[in-house]
Amino acid sequence: MSVNTEMQDTIEAMVQKGKGIIAIDESFPTIAKRFKPIHVESTEENRRYWRSLILSTPGLGDFISGAILFEETLTQKNDAGMTLPDVADENGIVAGIKVDKGTIALDNADGDKVTEGLDGLAERLKVYKTQGARFAKWREVYPVSTSNPTPLGVEVNAEILARYAAICQSVGIVPIVEPEVLIDGEHSIERSFEVVEAVQHAVYHALHRHKVILEYTILKPSMVTPGKESTDKASPEDIANYTVKALRRTVPAAVPSINFLSGGQTAEEATENLNAMNAIFQSEPWELSFSYGRALQQPALDTWGGKKENHKITQKALLKRARLNGAARNGTYKFSMEKE
Ligand code: 13P
Repeated sequence: MSVNTEMQDTIEAMVQKGKGIIAIDESFPTIAKRFKPIHVESTEENRRYWRSLILSTPGLGDFISGAILFEETLTQKNDAGMTLPDVADENGIVAGIKVDKGTIALDNADGDKVTEGLDGLAERLKVYKTQGARFAKWREVYPVSTSNPTPLGVEVNAEILARYAAICQSVGIVPIVEPEVLIDGEHSIERSFEVVEAVQHAVYHALHRHKVILEYTILKPSMVTPGKESTDKASPEDIANYTVKALRRTVPAAVPSINFLSGGQTAEEATENLNAMNAIFQSEPWELSFSYGRALQQPALDTWGGKKENHKITQKALLKRARLNGAARNGTYKFSMEKE
């Protein structure tokens, strides 16, 4: 099979009406941070248990078409001895892999960051593929201030995302391109719009330079929202309008799907905002979907609390969030559905 046919098949499996992606690819420090409030130690066994519980949730594949895994998870097994990518597959979920190695400060661009991990990436991807990964994710991070991101930060991060995407496609892996404009700060929604537009513009310019086939990519952007510490309040409709305006200005129609990160929004906010987008904008060229980490996992984590006896109700809590986000994909979510 040619790499293009392979990527076409992967896109068809991942981009489906009423479905989105779950991110369960937290690095070691991040998963420790998520487990801490529920007093669960981040051991290999606890991470295996948690991620196995998620991937084996009955019915999850009705709303989730892809799962972004962390490297360790690719080789872990469920209690019956099946690898976790196979567990996902059995549930109708395509397995993918986070391949970046996290951020460092970007020299000579005070306050900006840059992501590492390009060296040896093609070789790593070939191994991940044999372990069941069909797509990858790479995240660049853009802090927002009056002076950040700098023009240098915007250019460098775009170039790296494009290089990553080109490497993925050379081995038949679909790249999820994630330019995360951070929600932290006091900035207004207008400032967020300005940054998201500039960032996405640079990213698509770079993807074009690197001859990345847009049809075999997925964009994972931030929604345009006010900063978390801002006194501005924005309605889901405001967020939907600004977000789609920035997307229309920057993202070519060849891109099949836009799967937002939740980035620190509450589970309900992330669902409401996605719903507003799909309710208002019904004939955009791309799907407007989700690729949530915290907004899908947090209610389930709180239900679990590290207790084996909570296994079933935890899966129920996860399935509920997946179902409500599935409804938001169609613009048919209502807040009253939270109570059902
Ligand atoms: P959040 O939805 O928690 O922001 O996580 C998504 C993700 O994969 C960030 O890289």
